[in-house]
Amino acid sequence: MLHSAYQTTTNTVHVMEEKINGVRFVNPQKQYSDMRDEILKTVDDVFSRGDLINRKDLTEFEEAVAEFVGVKYAIGVNSGTDALSLVMEAAGIGPGDEVITVGHTFMSSISAIYHQGAEAVLIDVKPDFNMDVSQLEAAITPKTKAIEPVHLNGRMSEMEAIMKIAEKHNLLVIEDAAQALGSKMQINGEWKMAGSIGLAGCFSMYPFKVLGGFGDGGMVTTNDEELAEGIRRLRYNGEDRSDRKFYNHGYTALLDNVQAALLHLKLKRFPGWLERRREIANLYYEGLKDLAQLKLPHFDDPRFYDIYQNYVIRTERRDELNAFLDKNNVETLISWALPMYKQPVMMPNQIHLPETEAICNEVISLPMFPELTNEEAQYVIDTIRHFFSL
Ligand SMILES: Cc1ncc(COP(=O)(O)O)c(C=O)c1O
Repeated sequence: MLHSAYQTTTNTVHVMEEKINGVRFVNPQKQYSDMRDEILKTVDDVFSRGDLINRKDLTEFEEAVAEFVGVKYAIGVNSGTDALSLVMEAAGIGPGDEVITVGHTFMSSISAIYHQGAEAVLIDVKPDFNMDVSQLEAAITPKTKAIEPVHLNGRMSEMEAIMKIAEKHNLLVIEDAAQALGSKMQINGEWKMAGSIGLAGCFSMYPFKVLGGFGDGGMVTTNDEELAEGIRRLRYNGEDRSDRKFYNHGYTALLDNVQAALLHLKLKRFPGWLERRREIANLYYEGLKDLAQLKLPHFDDPRFYDIYQNYVIRTERRDELNAFLDKNNVETLISWALPMYKQPVMMPNQIHLPETEAICNEVISLPMFPELTNEEAQYVIDTIRHFFSL
């Protein structure tokens, strides 16, 4: 099949003839070739200045992220996992405390709680993959210290309801926004970004996240000055850089200066990339919506602006579909086939969360990245339609 490659990143359409014989799940080479000159110039500039650790590129990127998310402070860290752990530690979560989060999430959301010596209490999700708020109050005990909603796949959790419950029970809210930079929702008629509502937002800048670096990275966002100070110290081995005194036993967990410079470069194109993700999501929707055996991730609620970190479809014939796509060179990902609470590190336990378990049996993520061409998306659609017509 011949196709014309569509590149939104430059606001122009480049047409080139190319044979489609498969579609990658992600394709970092495409983005690199598109931005190569700027990337190499940025790296050269940073290295020529010798600015490797905790220099102006980090501060400038932090200011840009704070402005983008709509908060006072952003603190660059090593990873999304560190973002969660450092927020929990700085917020004083420790042994004897419970933190409520969801069963359907990446292990990090849960590990960050156990790293504090606290207990994770897992509740189920709704069909939109996010916290089922109707189960939240029943999970609160006298030991509960915080709620950790996870904004999965680039869609925000029901933050208005979560904040109301948190206020009623005097609980902290820590947003796991690892998959949700740029997603937003309307609360009382006002658009609020992921990471701007709870005590803190924790982002991952792992290469395949919506805003991904060239290695691991993460960011904390908050309006709380004391928390921001605490995280700045913890990420720097406990040292307060203004008086050079050590106030904690901390970690080496800074976001590298060169990564910050490169992420800042990408941030300038980021709004366009989010729009392109939404365009691709619409192509998938239009191409697949009539297939009765599929559930698509469009939840028809105008309060939410989803940015499709992942495009996750559901079908009871998931394993067969996965094999068929594989045979036809469409790369996919299954996140996750086994609930985290059934992983060895979490065993034994009596946890049973029906929606999480149904999701784990049914989900498959389709290729989704801003440089994906319309023709590649069509190839994915055609392959899926072919499978269901057999
Ligand atoms: C929901 C969620 N939380 C936390 C993380 C951890 O982020 P990182 O990989 O940057 O440590 C991830 C990353 O995959 C994630 O998807």
